[in-house]
Amino acid sequence: MTMPSVRESPPARDGEDSLFDALIAFAVDGIMIIDEKGNVRVYNKACERLFGYSAGEVIGRNLSMLMPAPYHGEHDRYLSHYLATGEKHIIGIGREVQGRRKDGSVFPMNLSVGEGVLRGDRIFLGVITDISERVQRERRIMELQSEMLHVGRLTDMGQVAAGLAHELNQPLTAILNYTNAGLDMADERGDTELKSVFGKVAEQATRAGNIIRRLRAFIEKRGPNRTEEDITRTIDEAIRLGQINPAERGVKLRVVFERGLPQVLIDRVQIQQVLINLMKNAIEAMEKSERRELTISVGKVVPDLVQVSVADSGSGISEEMAEKLFQPFVTTKASGMGMGLSICRGIIEAHGGRLWLEPNPGGGAVFRFNVPAAPEVVT
Ligand SMILES: Nc1ncnc2c1ncn2[C@@H]1O[C@H](COP(=O)(O)OP(=O)(O)OP(=O)(O)O)[C@@H](O)[C@H]1O
Ligand SMILES: [Mg+2]
Repeated sequence: MTMPSVRESPPARDGEDSLFDALIAFAVDGIMIIDEKGNVRVYNKACERLFGYSAGEVIGRNLSMLMPAPYHGEHDRYLSHYLATGEKHIIGIGREVQGRRKDGSVFPMNLSVGEGVLRGDRIFLGVITDISERVQRERRIMELQSEMLHVGRLTDMGQVAAGLAHELNQPLTAILNYTNAGLDMADERGDTELKSVFGKVAEQATRAGNIIRRLRAFIEKRGPNRTEEDITRTIDEAIRLGQINPAERGVKLRVVFERGLPQVLIDRVQIQQVLINLMKNAIEAMEKSERRELTISVGKVVPDLVQVSVADSGSGISEEMAEKLFQPFVTTKASGMGMGLSICRGIIEAHGGRLWLEPNPGGGAVFRFNVPAAPEVVT
């Protein structure tokens, strides 16, 4: 293994050269030294792994071979511009740029550049870290986020429709009952004209009822898409994806998990929707509170349920409000839809669970819900 080194380095004292060689050979990050013309003088092992070129293929050649178009054309211009004007874009700072491997593939990397003088020549020292994994992780989070927003909107619409269907069914049934009573009365009085009018009302009310029944059947048929999930991960992800950002709102978030929790059988995206709605409500309720504590706790309740509690130290909920806040369109917020809790209850009940409210003994509200644990696999 030949170790690349600075050919024009000053005469080294004993051991200094090997120390330098070891430093750059064992570094995890790519280390490169280029001269004023952009030619590579030092190119370490990590660079070989990153770019796929051996030191022999790169040393003495222009750095632009390691950059994808259109940057490779620009690099020389950038370097001469800097040398002429002293204006820095990247020198002395780190920055995310793209690298090009020998096979032509492009990858994101963090590049920090320092400059110095070596035996009278100006040199630039580049340290390179491959950040493809981080970028990929970020991309995955973005994808999950947009998937959630999308599914969220769909389930919201489904839930709104289900809620409306349920709400409308009651007055419709009442209309039909009154109409039938009217029909009987018109019959008794022998008023054929009135009887025909009532007959038409009954016909139309029945028609509306059928539309609603079909709508409910359509929604119920879809059913949730349940899989075995880790509740801990589901909650962590909901906090991240829902952009709850407690710290930004001065809220202290605590998440408490009981040990040895079983897997749960849930529609992950829907349960995350519930968590996000509850956390948002909690944070909104604490806006004017001095003490802002949001505590999420998870425990097992016998025999086969997992219970999640979302507790806040906010304004709390009056008895009058507590009676109706799960109904759709009930809100005390200027920009609220009043749909959050009714959607949450719909989702939890579709999972065979329950969602309810309790006062928080220390002030504030606690919303608790449970979801089914996945059946234990007996081995
Ligand atoms: N943690 C809480 N503390 C105090 N009040 C609450 C809390 N959660 C809900 N509420 C009350 O219940 C009402 C209904 O909540 P819900 O989530 O259904 O609708 P919303 O938050 O007003 O609007 P959105 O549709 O945007 O969620 C709220 O307007 C608020 O008055
Ligand atoms: Mg809400």
